[in-house]
Amino acid sequence: MKPDALRELEPDFWRAPSARNTQPWVLRYREETVEIGWDPARTLPAADPSGRDLRLALGAFTETCLIVCADAGLHVDFRHDPDAAGHRLGHLVAAGGPYTTPFTVQDVRARRTGRAAYEPGRLDDAVAARLEKLAAEEKAEIRRLPCRDLIDLLYDADRHMFATPPIARELREWLRLDPEDPRYRQDGLTDRALDLTPFQARMLGRLLSPRAYPLLRRLGVPGVLAGASEDLLDYDGEAVVLVARPGSTHTEQVDLGRVLMRQWLTLSTLGHTTHPLSQIIDAQRTKQRLARLLDIDDPSRLLNITRVGRPATAPPLSARLR
Ligand SMILES: Cc1cc2nc3c(=O)[nH]c(=O)nc-3n(C[C@H](O)[C@H](O)[C@H](O)COP(=O)(O)O)c2cc1C
Repeated sequence: MKPDALRELEPDFWRAPSARNTQPWVLRYREETVEIGWDPARTLPAADPSGRDLRLALGAFTETCLIVCADAGLHVDFRHDPDAAGHRLGHLVAAGGPYTTPFTVQDVRARRTGRAAYEPGRLDDAVAARLEKLAAEEKAEIRRLPCRDLIDLLYDADRHMFATPPIARELREWLRLDPEDPRYRQDGLTDRALDLTPFQARMLGRLLSPRAYPLLRRLGVPGVLAGASEDLLDYDGEAVVLVARPGSTHTEQVDLGRVLMRQWLTLSTLGHTTHPLSQIIDAQRTKQRLARLLDIDDPSRLLNITRVGRPATAPPLSARLR
């Protein structure tokens, strides 16, 4: 493998999903391999203190790299070589043949997160069985829930997110609500990605502004902000939870990020989009409530929860650094 051959594929590698669209991954080109690592400045220590979403995003990125390389005719595989202090995940290395995957670079480019309304309807059982099989290949499982069962949990989780100063501050750092901001086309969550009207975007920006937030927080505005998404789940839709085996290691969680990518691409190729609701798992209280709802003893097994379905309108393409 000539590591330099991978450089020109970076724009497609970068289409991988990451929480808040921070794109935390870093590629370090060596003589024989390409090291995958991460940039601590692009992690979410307040919302994701355990690094769960970071590991899932790095796994999703790894899977995306392998799919894009295979599509370009490059024989590349991934080797874990974790080093937390060096912010290293592992290496893309030369392989005897192409990575085996049903997905193409077009699938990678077409996938997107959809946060607006979905058409009513549950996941087809045959599709759910495909997601289950992908999870089982890495000793994990999926659980399915009607969206309406999550209305209270999402409200509670959103209120916690908006009412916890470090988490609200971190969220503000990754919001891109002003199209004039040079970072609007680079990373983070835009008003368009969040499906906000210009008025809603202005209000959200003002409510979270460093000057207004401390007072508004005391006045109960987090509850008002949380209430804004109450209708989101009030339809006949479905959410899928990715559940790791008990005691899964960090390395296994990276592999489950790869599974998540395969699941989201599977859904995308069938005309579905995905809308993760990670705040439910980020907050201890709602995570425990979700675990009880699913009859799961150990809440740390819950890795991801995502609303899935057919979007009523096509979601916009999200920004990228490359
Ligand atoms: C591990 C993980 C967690 C995520 N959590 C959330 C979430 O809680 N809420 C949300 O709206 N999007 C969430 N997302 C979606 C990202 O914000 C999205 O991937 C990113 O903005 C890029 O957009 P795209 O998926 O359309 O390319 C998550 C993505 C990943 C990989």
